[in-house]
Amino acid sequence: MYTWEEIEEHVNSCAACPLCRTRKHPVMGRGDHKGKLMLVAEAPGGQEDLAGLPFVGPAGKVLDELLASVEIRREDIYITNILKCHPPGNRDPLEQEKEACMPYLKYETYLMKPRIIVCLGRVAAQRLIDPGYRITRQHGTWVERKGCFMTATYHPSALLRDPSKMEDGKRDFQRIREKLRELGL
Ligand code: URA
Repeated sequence: MYTWEEIEEHVNSCAACPLCRTRKHPVMGRGDHKGKLMLVAEAPGGQEDLAGLPFVGPAGKVLDELLASVEIRREDIYITNILKCHPPGNRDPLEQEKEACMPYLKYETYLMKPRIIVCLGRVAAQRLIDPGYRITRQHGTWVERKGCFMTATYHPSALLRDPSKMEDGKRDFQRIREKLRELGL
């Protein structure tokens, strides 16, 4: 098994898919490795690609608002993506890219052992919960896998595009806050 530092070194020199030729910086997950809550989104956006950090652009501001609404601090949780490199033009990740990148998320999950995983958006939910996952219908519902509770909510970028979904997004974060309490966390 690798350490966090070794995983990050692998991510930083990764050439497992063609995105390594277009990325500016790979974006490893960030946050508390000993936290209980892991958020998994899709792939770094343009600003994240420049900064090498997750959720520093406009979607990050929306995420901060959702977290603040339930008094969860970024530094107490871990935030990562299915893909560690930015797909040009923010297109959906290709199957081949997801396959190539999944081992990193598996290592992150193995090392952190989160009690709750929240998928931000369809791409993460379909990859981690169910290939047929429908965010609009299923957001905010829970499944338990080997003692880890998993749910999904709208991607913060979707809330930027359609602010009428913000109330639903905030309600999902209240459910996450309740689940943390239920688990005594
Ligand atoms: N969108 C994502 O899916 N991930 C990020 O890190 C930033 C924006």
